[in-house]
Amino acid sequence: MPHTAPARKGNNGHAAPVMPPLAGAPWHAMQSMPGLISERFISELLARVDIVDVVERRVPMKKAGHEWTACCPFHNERTPSFTVSPQKQFYHCFGCGAHGSAIGFLMEYEHLEFQDAVEELAQSAGLTVEYEGGRDRAPRRDLTDHFTLLDQAASWYQKQLQDSDTAQDYCRQRGLDADIIERFRIGWAPPGWDGLRAQLGTSGEHLKQLEQAGMLSTGQRGKTYDRFRERVMFPIMDRRGRVIAFGGRVLSSEQSPKYLNSPETPLFHKGRELFGLWQARQANSKLERLIVVEGYMDAIALHQAGLPIAVATLGTATTPEHAERLFRSAPSVVFCFDGDRAGRAAAWKALEASLPSLRDGRQANFLFLPDGEDPDSLVRAEGLDGFNARMAQATPLSDYLFDNVAADIDTHSLDGRARLAEQARPLIARLPDGAFRELMGQELEKRTGAALGRSAPAARAAPRHNHGQSPSLVRQAVTVLLTQPSVADDLQAPYPFADLDKPGVPLLVQMVDVVRAHPGLSTAALLEHFRDRPEHGFLAKLAATSLPANLDLNHEFHGALTQMQRQVGEQRIGALLARQSTGGLDEAGKAELRELLRAKAGGW
Ligand code: UTP
Ligand code: MN
Repeated sequence: MPHTAPARKGNNGHAAPVMPPLAGAPWHAMQSMPGLISERFISELLARVDIVDVVERRVPMKKAGHEWTACCPFHNERTPSFTVSPQKQFYHCFGCGAHGSAIGFLMEYEHLEFQDAVEELAQSAGLTVEYEGGRDRAPRRDLTDHFTLLDQAASWYQKQLQDSDTAQDYCRQRGLDADIIERFRIGWAPPGWDGLRAQLGTSGEHLKQLEQAGMLSTGQRGKTYDRFRERVMFPIMDRRGRVIAFGGRVLSSEQSPKYLNSPETPLFHKGRELFGLWQARQANSKLERLIVVEGYMDAIALHQAGLPIAVATLGTATTPEHAERLFRSAPSVVFCFDGDRAGRAAAWKALEASLPSLRDGRQANFLFLPDGEDPDSLVRAEGLDGFNARMAQATPLSDYLFDNVAADIDTHSLDGRARLAEQARPLIARLPDGAFRELMGQELEKRTGAALGRSAPAARAAPRHNHGQSPSLVRQAVTVLLTQPSVADDLQAPYPFADLDKPGVPLLVQMVDVVRAHPGLSTAALLEHFRDRPEHGFLAKLAATSLPANLDLNHEFHGALTQMQRQVGEQRIGALLARQSTGGLDEAGKAELRELLRAKAGGW
């Protein structure tokens, strides 16, 4: 249902005059918007919609000064730390760090891909999405029917379980009680090729949707049949409890594969979803801790045993997306793995995936289980108390990181300690700024005698090697430009500061180009131009910083640029002097040097 009310405008909400990007502007060549939606259109769209409307339609908000606040829809909280700035057209949660534009909000909140979020926003603003080169795309797939069908499939499987003695025997033998079967909507896919297909594929459209949702397989002659047959069925739910996929287990371990999972579909991306998270959220008004296990049955057994805080990855390694989702749901996460080789490798992957999410107040621990045991077998053997006792002994991420890196290094030798430092440093650099990273740096120093080095802060970011002075001029300029893009309106290319040989300068130049090509651009719209770039996360973080209200942003910005311009002069003087000292400076060079030195002496 398209939203038809006229969009309320934020301070920046006037429609931007439509202008072509600067000819040959570098950002244009370097950046490809996913799905080839024209960048001009993205800017126009974000100028037309108001993020306050977009959020308010989904999350109740309160006005607080110039901003709007709400309890964050992306993590559990009781006091609001989620804010929306009409000025920046940007949302930011101080609690969990979620942030972005109206497009980003829709992607996150509605589980949409970039293109679909743009399509939806465009629809609500009465605009038609423009694709690059006029290429059109099929209209956004409405997934409502898919969700309904999967829900009906889950119900049908549940019913089949009630009717099957074999399947019920299996559940009994695995120790599943009626309550847990109900909570997890465990079911049974009966033998035969088209039980589900016949039940739900009642029209051509439904058959197509069942297939798109991954419930049907296609035979050699193009005939479709049930993907899941003779399997105990575990529905996978999304954040809102909607069924988006299934895992199905065979009864006898001789058959293979033991577990068959839904393929990747428009509803299901296994690198993102966590089995049991919905049930964990349902069972706890506030989640303090989550346990991550490897198997469906492990998560279920822990819930049943009285630990309704277990979730499982779906037969994949832990991804950074998983990690972020975990930490947004609970501040403490215990990763639980087999003690064997494969388990250790998986744990290390989980550690690496977690690092970028480990802001202050969040912690990760690692629990390794004895050989041949999994959480399911263990909690049944040792009970809730036994399992809790093991959890209390879990290894903190910091110990695990250093011990694992040091595992095959002789840390008694100077050489060994240097190697330890060398290997640990890039891992620590992936942690976000904060007290935890400081502590890890101190620990590194204690263990190796080597300091983290000044290159570490904001290491994932663009103006990377910020030796000494902080924040750097470039960073300062970028922050101000993000806060109020119009400060760059009156700049003329070529920009004198562009020659400064420092990290982040090319990025700043590109940002200025974007702003000049799109007058009236908001913070969020500017950020969207960099969505696909590695610097996007860093920029979003800067965009979320609130500068003092009384700061003269124009003055700050131009002041920073002037200083950068001076540094260009300094760099040039340095280069010319170096050439002079090797006798390689020609007349023109000498003249330039004289000129520069005079300018410098006169205070530039
Ligand atoms: P396990 O083989 O350890 O399964 O696989 P489990 O959970 O202990 O299963 P039970 O106790 O024998 O029933 C762990 C997880 O790896 C994925 C599933 O998510 C499983 O729960 N897996 C395993 C697959 O996706 N496919 C497989 O064939 C096997
Ligand atoms: Mn098991």
